Amino acid sequence: MAPPVPTRVLKADEAAIAEAARLVLDGQPVAVPTETVYGLAADATSGEAVAHIYEAKVRPSFNPLIVHVSSLAQGLELGDFDEQALILAQEHWPGPLTLVVPLKPHAPIASLVTAGLPSIGIRVPAHPVMQALLLAVGRPLAAPSANASGSISPTRAEHVLASLGGRIALILDAGPCERGLESTIVAATGGPLRLLRPGPIAVDAAAANAEKIEAPGQLASHYAPAKPLRINAQNAGEDEYMIGFGLVAGDSSLSETGDLQQAAARLFDLLHAADASAKPRIAVAPVPRSGLGAAINDRLLRASATL
Ligand code: TXA
Ligand code: MG
Repeated sequence: MAPPVPTRVLKADEAAIAEAARLVLDGQPVAVPTETVYGLAADATSGEAVAHIYEAKVRPSFNPLIVHVSSLAQGLELGDFDEQALILAQEHWPGPLTLVVPLKPHAPIASLVTAGLPSIGIRVPAHPVMQALLLAVGRPLAAPSANASGSISPTRAEHVLASLGGRIALILDAGPCERGLESTIVAATGGPLRLLRPGPIAVDAAAANAEKIEAPGQLASHYAPAKPLRINAQNAGEDEYMIGFGLVAGDSSLSETGDLQQAAARLFDLLHAADASAKPRIAVAPVPRSGLGAAINDRLLRASATL
């Protein structure tokens, strides 16, 4: 668990946005207003920066995060938009609509952002402060709502401070959010459009078919390895690809130094590597449950249980 940090709340003027950009480029998350809710934004190209988002949340779990970009053109570099997605993007961006589209194979997005999925949620926000931050940083920003897990989404800087004070360095304050409700999420990953989360934008109900969601009771599907996975392993069996941690070595390691941030950043990359290896099974070394370790263990437990 990281020691408490002093949290500054700055009126979102030019100097404050420049400071926020500096922190983001340094790998730290900052809270920033959008037209929907305040987001906790970090460099989406860096797994370790994204791990810091999760570290700031108490008892987090690794859901795929929305990637914010400054324009449709920047979005097209990250995802494959079919005609339906393009029409929605042109109609509603910038604005409170997130499109889940196939991830471009070599898009520079950390696997922790998409939770290892082959799709990516993209949004062009309308809020001038978030837009200014995107331009100043020059990189896509992953940003979930800026609240601790399990609490309600923040629509004012004071809400963010109450929830994440002492856990993040900076909150940009631009007053209350106009919409106060998280973005509408529509998946365009082949076949008819699917509504994953209702929100401020009413998408054509005929086009968005919520009943087609594959996993009942679960809006976002998760990447799970195709092979059986054993957790808390001290040694690998002959037929197992071993993912190590700390002193427990393996074919690869989440973190040789036992750093949970690094482990979170590498988790999905290594699960993919294990899946792609010649070994038919996967074993994973014990990971402590403190701080980010809780989310890592939660993810591993689910990966081991789904088989
Ligand atoms: O209004 C908003 O969308 C706010 C502001 C800050 O922009 N952001 C937000 O982010 O609500 P977040 O991380 O709470 O929303 C993440 C949700 C996931 O739980 C999932 O439902 C969906 O977005 N999502 C993101 N990427 C996805 C993907 N690749 N596949 C499926 N669902 C995805
Ligand atoms: Mg949220």
